[in-house]
Amino acid sequence: MSQRIYIPCDTTALSLGADQLAEAVQQEIEQRGLDATIVRNGSRGMLWLEPLVEVETAHGRVGYGAVSAQQVPALFDAGLLDGNQQHESCIGLVEEHPYLKKQQRLTFARSGITDPVSIEDYIALDGFNGLKNAIAMQPQNIVDEVKTSGLRGRGGAAFPTGIKWQTVLDTPAEQKYIVCNADEGDSGTFADRLVMECDPFMLIEGMTIAGLAVHATQGYIYLRSEYPVAHKLLNEAIERAYKAGYLGENILGSGKHFDLEVRLGAGAYICGEETSLLDSLEGKRGLVRAKPPLPAIVGLFGQPTVVNNVLSFAAVPYILDKGGQSYADYGMGRSRGTLPLQLAGNVKQGGLVELAFGISLRELMEDFGGGTLTGKPLKAVQVGGPLGAYLPASQWDTLIDYEEFAAVGAVLGHGGVVMFDETVDMGQQARFSMEFCKVESCGKCTPCRIGSTRGVEVIDRIRNGENANANWVLLEDLCETMIDGSLCAMGGMTPFPVQSVMKYFPEELSATR
Ligand SMILES: Cc1cc2nc3c(=O)[nH]c(=O)nc-3n(C[C@H](O)[C@H](O)[C@H](O)COP(=O)(O)O)c2cc1C
Ligand code: SF4
Repeated sequence: MSQRIYIPCDTTALSLGADQLAEAVQQEIEQRGLDATIVRNGSRGMLWLEPLVEVETAHGRVGYGAVSAQQVPALFDAGLLDGNQQHESCIGLVEEHPYLKKQQRLTFARSGITDPVSIEDYIALDGFNGLKNAIAMQPQNIVDEVKTSGLRGRGGAAFPTGIKWQTVLDTPAEQKYIVCNADEGDSGTFADRLVMECDPFMLIEGMTIAGLAVHATQGYIYLRSEYPVAHKLLNEAIERAYKAGYLGENILGSGKHFDLEVRLGAGAYICGEETSLLDSLEGKRGLVRAKPPLPAIVGLFGQPTVVNNVLSFAAVPYILDKGGQSYADYGMGRSRGTLPLQLAGNVKQGGLVELAFGISLRELMEDFGGGTLTGKPLKAVQVGGPLGAYLPASQWDTLIDYEEFAAVGAVLGHGGVVMFDETVDMGQQARFSMEFCKVESCGKCTPCRIGSTRGVEVIDRIRNGENANANWVLLEDLCETMIDGSLCAMGGMTPFPVQSVMKYFPEELSATR
């Protein structure tokens, strides 16, 4: 059999020249008359090593990190196909790399191993087992399995997925919908994109199971337009799933029906908020709806709708395959299973780290991230996107757990971890947080729309030393008003990063205080 050489096709690898690299490798194979085939796989999530070339050998897959097209002839000369481990870019057996070896990959188990749009690859690694089980089950039993898993929404609010599905199941309607929130707007996050680019059948399978669980026959993936590679791969995977009978009128001959399509968003952060997303899907401007009614009862086109994040749906095939309890066996307290964390910002080894809840933030940043890229001391870390608090060193021993984070006034959100070294200006970060809200506010409620504009002005006055003490008190009041009076978490959480700077880095916000 022809020897396989793997070259990733996800956005990160592509942006670092993976296509040119694949061309150069193909040329070398032909010129040297070798019996080798290139497979375009997904990413392992070790983004600092992209493009990561892997070569299949008798001992396993040997990796070569950050390879450029120019290096290819020399790599072949040095015995690439023999898995020469002496080469300077060789990282050895990929599966043995400590970054991967220390992870607990349930959701990302296939990522980087398979060709993302190969159904055969997917099935060979447990793909569609969960769906096959779900087809044979009663909807209530599927929902019960998800409840047993303890899965909480991975998009930010951490609401129990099983309870949400139960509400939709219990609400009678002719038509129900499954909507996947693939807007992924948080800073430093890319786990949703990696799912869609590296293992799209998993999302298709998870959404189909959700459809069977609540009697919904139509699903939509609301995808951010900034993800063209994910768009292409998702569409290809959906088409193949239809052809192979995993989607459509008669799934695997069961008589059960589920249709799925992708819809593109136009690029507004607030369209990630679930009700605003539904407005946008309906073709309107994305404005937040007042709750109640919940989307589970009155959702898309007024019908009961499950809205879940990509990672929430992506956890479901494992749960239906291995059982809810098997998923719940990972984690701590009320945070069950694993959380795909994303290391970004000023970090040496940026990438995707999937771990059971319970590891400390410090271990994550040091053991996996390897500290800052600049080598300068780490000063602050923002977890959970642009609305998450900035945490100083005194908070880094906090365990990755929804309740532990809430106890220190922080959020885990979508698991994005953005690191900053000592050169960061925290006053500027506080201003940026407020300005982000000013720019992205949907404008429906006053505390957020007007509050964020005035908030930027007040921060500017503090930073300029104008009546710093009085303006400080004003900013405290404004933050409280936004928290208490905003209609959604955009205005309600924007104060978190600002207050964290006021609490932990006050001297940087106001030199004159
Ligand atoms: C301003 C704002 C932006 C949000 N952006 C996203 C997003 O990009 N992706 C996402 O899944 N959830 C986002 N959410 C959370 C969603 O409103 C909702 O809680 C989530 O899609 C529910 O799915 P889950 O239960 O699987 O997490 C956002 C919320 C707010 C308030
Ligand atoms: S808090 Fe902001 S984003 Fe949310 S509804 Fe009010 S104005 Fe819109």
